[in-house]
Amino acid sequence: MSTYILGIESSCDDTSAAVIKNTQLLSNVIANQDVHKSFGGVVPELASRAHQQNIIPVVEFALNKAKIKKNQLSAIAFTRGPGLLGSLLVGTSFAKSFSLGLGIPMVEVDHLKAHILSHFIGKEYGEEKPNFPFLCLTVSGGHTQIVKVESPTKMTVIGRTIDDAAGEAFDKAAKIMGLPYPGGPVIDKLAKIGNPHAFEFPTPSMKGLDYSFSGLKTSFLYFLRDSLKIDDDFIEKNKADLSASIQYTIVTILLNKVKRAIKETGIKQIAIAGGVSANSGLRDALTLMAKQNNWKTFIPEFQFTTDNAAMIAIAGYFKYLDGDFAEQNVVPYARSRF
Ligand code: KG4
Ligand code: ZN
Repeated sequence: MSTYILGIESSCDDTSAAVIKNTQLLSNVIANQDVHKSFGGVVPELASRAHQQNIIPVVEFALNKAKIKKNQLSAIAFTRGPGLLGSLLVGTSFAKSFSLGLGIPMVEVDHLKAHILSHFIGKEYGEEKPNFPFLCLTVSGGHTQIVKVESPTKMTVIGRTIDDAAGEAFDKAAKIMGLPYPGGPVIDKLAKIGNPHAFEFPTPSMKGLDYSFSGLKTSFLYFLRDSLKIDDDFIEKNKADLSASIQYTIVTILLNKVKRAIKETGIKQIAIAGGVSANSGLRDALTLMAKQNNWKTFIPEFQFTTDNAAMIAIAGYFKYLDGDFAEQNVVPYARSRF
């Protein structure tokens, strides 16, 4: 018998609902919130309000697109955390009432684990999936981690950022240059026509597998401040080279630790996940490094890089198979728990 899971994602500024049949994706609907653009970042209160408005139409649309009736669902999976508490509360409360109303179980999902499990969303042409154990570099706007993945539910963080996330480094560098939010995709686009070696920025010497990006942000800020003293138009004239150089530095920092993690664990399968895994510089550099070192890489489809409910549904599916259900008194958590 087939298992139908409805996934709900509302941890930040995207309201998303998806339906899967076993591991096969039937629909994945995402409502982005443009309201934050003029603020240069996500405004939590506005995000919660937009989720409230979006959640019912987004779920209805996802069910219609999947050609599934509510009473065919086996369970509802929702993001419990980490994320913005007000935003998470909308998805969590919706899941509770839906589960009660339909008399079906609900499954709580960790957003970061779901990013990793997006690699298991069934693909039409049966593309290859990672074997266990594998390593995953999870790089998003809020997190940067290297995770050892031993099963869909057994994951250990072996390296993490001690300050800013990689996505934040992109977004802050873009903000310093006066580029719109979110800055990652804008820098990625400009970097394609710039020289990655035009400017050199320092890479931190962090111990072990941990990351730090706050020093890079500061040195980028000071470099631009000094350059603007000499030429008012420095940023405008060098936007592409600055983007290519900062992207090159961020990617170098990320991959240096990946190389080390592979050496230390002996695991030669590496996946990337999260919003920054859409970055073309990271994808190209990892692919090249893997070729040179005989590693196997897993690079997600673009639709599964940024926040989406398909990854919540697949993570929920694995927990559903284990009978790992949430109770009605479950509450969201804001900070990472693993
Ligand atoms: O995973 P995600 O959608 O949300 C979080 O859970 O944080 O990641 C959003 C982050 C933002 O910082 C955004 O700038 C970055 O992913 N991002 C990119 C690219 N696309 C999105 N960064 C670099 N290059 C990209 N192409
Ligand atoms: Zn995310």
